[in-house]
Amino acid sequence: MKLNFQKKAAEQMCADAEIFYQQIKKRRSVREFKPDPIPDEIIENCLLSAGTAPNGANLQPWHFCVIKSQEVKSELRAAAEVHEHKFYNGGVPEEWTDTLKHLNTNESKPFLEIAPVLIAIFQKASTHDHEGIERKCYYAKESIGIATGMLITALHQSGLATLTHTPSPMNFLNKILDRPSSEKPFLLLIVGYPTDDCEVPDIEKHGIESIRTYH
Ligand SMILES: Cc1cc2nc3c(=O)[nH]c(=O)nc-3n(C[C@H](O)[C@H](O)[C@H](O)COP(=O)(O)O)c2cc1C
Repeated sequence: MKLNFQKKAAEQMCADAEIFYQQIKKRRSVREFKPDPIPDEIIENCLLSAGTAPNGANLQPWHFCVIKSQEVKSELRAAAEVHEHKFYNGGVPEEWTDTLKHLNTNESKPFLEIAPVLIAIFQKASTHDHEGIERKCYYAKESIGIATGMLITALHQSGLATLTHTPSPMNFLNKILDRPSSEKPFLLLIVGYPTDDCEVPDIEKHGIESIRTYH
């Protein structure tokens, strides 16, 4: 099929790139959420956006579990905190926990119960192609990373805050969410509105000179 590509004027492109940067740089990882509900329609459209991501051989190696049930959220919090307790109490090399000190995070994860929506993202080892043939997914991690980035961006653009959460290990997600062992938990996204007095770590992003070279 023919691509429907409409070239924009250079000035428009420059303006759009600047506007997008100004919007996306406001995204921050939030750890204090309000319980206010989110319209399902927003979540559905953001997941559809994630599903447009480029991916290896178009095998789309992802599955998204949207969790709204209070009971399931409480179960996930309890399971995550068991792992987080180990993590913060000698379960991983000190070098790792040292890198997190400036974020002031700890084993307590109330946001897992408070935020209105959690999205557990699973990476599939194989999926069915357009002819229904089961195919091993290549570049699955790269693909799901791109889709997750697009999901976070879509949620941000919709006016929502997120936290990328990776309790380690994450196998409890398969059990609680009834996903097959062939699916690997990729990460857990916490989605909602920040509290009115929400604080975020005072961190900086690298400037352009240190993240790019021209050749
Ligand atoms: C793959 C990945 C895993 C992360 N895991 C956690 C986590 O388990 N807990 C947490 O509080 N933050 C987690 N974060 C959030 C990072 O700490 C955060 O993105 C980083 O400090 C930069 O802050 P910013 O997102 O506000 O720009 C994770 C981020 C990524 C990309």
